[in-house]
Amino acid sequence: MATEQTLVLVKPDGVARGLTGAILARIEAKGYSLVDIRLVEPDRERLEQHYAEHAGKPFYEPLLEFMMSGPSVAIRLAGNRVIEGFRSLAGTTDPTTAAPGTIRGDFGRDWGLAVQQNLVHGSDSVESANRELAIWFD
Ligand code: PPS
Repeated sequence: MATEQTLVLVKPDGVARGLTGAILARIEAKGYSLVDIRLVEPDRERLEQHYAEHAGKPFYEPLLEFMMSGPSVAIRLAGNRVIEGFRSLAGTTDPTTAAPGTIRGDFGRDWGLAVQQNLVHGSDSVESANRELAIWFD
């Protein structure tokens, strides 16, 4: 089986709170391989591509604004079944109810802001990973 790759983002809230190292430590402790890593300040065009499937949803505009509020750390991560493995490490989308032991469950919460901040993004399929990696690592 070919080794899988996925896109992980440490979103602006994770970078601003100084959690990049803690998040990377969990990824490395799990045994996945860092193939590439970069600090990116995405423009609207890049984010429109990344979040194209969510265009028109109520959270779409706030999400784009949030993602443009500061840099993200983009990571090309490799490993067997890394796509589902990282999403398991990340926890469910809503940080309030994400399980303890996960990145979102341990470090995230509802801050009472208009936009949900949940620290990380991980691709959800091989197709998404290939598409998203091309957007962030052109
Ligand atoms: S959906 O509609 O079920 O597909 O949405 P979901 O998978 O839960 O989330 C898709 C991405 O949108 C983000 N999201 C939000 N961001 C800000 N505010 C609100 N209210 C909100 N709701 C969902 C969610 O974090 C996902 O982002 P990524 O970067 O893909 O993890």
